[in-house]
Amino acid sequence: MTATDFIVARDDLETCKTIATELPAGESLPQDALLVKVDRFAFTANNITYAVLGDEMKYWQLFPAPNGFGNVPVWGFGEVIASNHPNVAVGERLFGYFPMATHLVIEATDVSKRGLRDGAAHRQGVAPVYNAYARVTGDPAYAGRQGDYQALLRPLFMLSFLVDDFLAENDDFGARTVLLSSASSKTAFGLAHLLHTRGRKAIGLTSAGNIGFVSSLGCYDEVVTYDSVTSLPSGTPVAFVDMAGNSALRAGLHHHFCDEMKCSVRVGLTHRATEADEGVLPGAKPRWFFAPDQIRKRAKEWGPGGIEQRFGAAWSGFAPLLERCLAVVESRGPEAVRQVYLDTLKGRIPPEQGHMLSLLG
Ligand SMILES: NC(=O)c1ccc[n+]([C@@H]2O[C@H](COP(=O)([O-])OP(=O)(O)OC[C@H]3O[C@@H](n4cnc5c(N)ncnc54)[C@H](OP(=O)(O)O)[C@@H]3O)[C@@H](O)[C@H]2O)c1
Repeated sequence: MTATDFIVARDDLETCKTIATELPAGESLPQDALLVKVDRFAFTANNITYAVLGDEMKYWQLFPAPNGFGNVPVWGFGEVIASNHPNVAVGERLFGYFPMATHLVIEATDVSKRGLRDGAAHRQGVAPVYNAYARVTGDPAYAGRQGDYQALLRPLFMLSFLVDDFLAENDDFGARTVLLSSASSKTAFGLAHLLHTRGRKAIGLTSAGNIGFVSSLGCYDEVVTYDSVTSLPSGTPVAFVDMAGNSALRAGLHHHFCDEMKCSVRVGLTHRATEADEGVLPGAKPRWFFAPDQIRKRAKEWGPGGIEQRFGAAWSGFAPLLERCLAVVESRGPEAVRQVYLDTLKGRIPPEQGHMLSLLG
């Protein structure tokens, strides 16, 4: 039995191809292993960032590919089609981190009523969230369109939630206005929604082509194109949350706001225009936001279920916005996956679209 994997050249992300790989079948499936058919997965700019940081953040090691190539991790759903684990049945549905492939073998460990982990040796050494699978059979929150929203948004909105929590616990570093770059991205507008909900002013920074979409969301108090950020009034304290990773933009903002730039958080790299050495900028020193640190801190302070409960409440408030502003686009088969991958890489996906893919024909 063979699987189809979609792989990309690590040093040139525009080079990509599908390959056939051998799957263990019947008795060759190891003890406790599951053979999972990858049904559908979400694809956004976040997955491109996984590829850009593949070596640095060890994303490439999660789903091995032939020399020089990598398999980009995606969030999605799989169905167990063979099981050598006594407590996991064929037909079970899992939600978690998958390769861009038709199949994945999971070495099931820590199996509980609600989830399991892949204990494969090559998957260790990354944040635990990347090896955890939720058992979602029959769960309406993970079925149909709601399931698509989970795959498309849940990992992103978790980041939005954690950044909002980090800012709130620091009284927004004295700022009452937060600037967000790549304001049209799902991660950014999730954060804008949370900021807006707790009375902060959210200013979206975006490209000219996406200004209509960002304005229509209703969670930004103001929307400004990249070429006019210096027209913003500079006399009051601001915080900046950077989804774009654009060094020139960051420098422009820091020089414009100077000491009023009270906090500068780096989150994403959508523009892939980061200079290795950005020099010293006026105002608060830019720093990377590392979600696992905030998760660890809050897990300790809020206790078991504390994050999930608060995140669940935040998600309930966010979901209606998705129904209004996000059109889920489904594509199947290797050629369609290749096209969406390349369009996402090149920034050609309209922000109102959320792509759900499958390599299965
Ligand atoms: N650190 C973390 O843990 C973490 C977690 C979640 C997300 N993130 C990061 O947040 C960023 C947003 O991810 P997302 O999945 O929410 O994005 P998305 O919804 O797919 O956002 C797409 C937007 O990004 C900009 N963009 C994308 N590709 C581009 C390109 N090639 N050239 C120029 N602009 C491009 C455009 O926005 P504009 O025109 O508005 O610039 C575009 O509308 C990613 O870098 C992601 O990795 C980080």
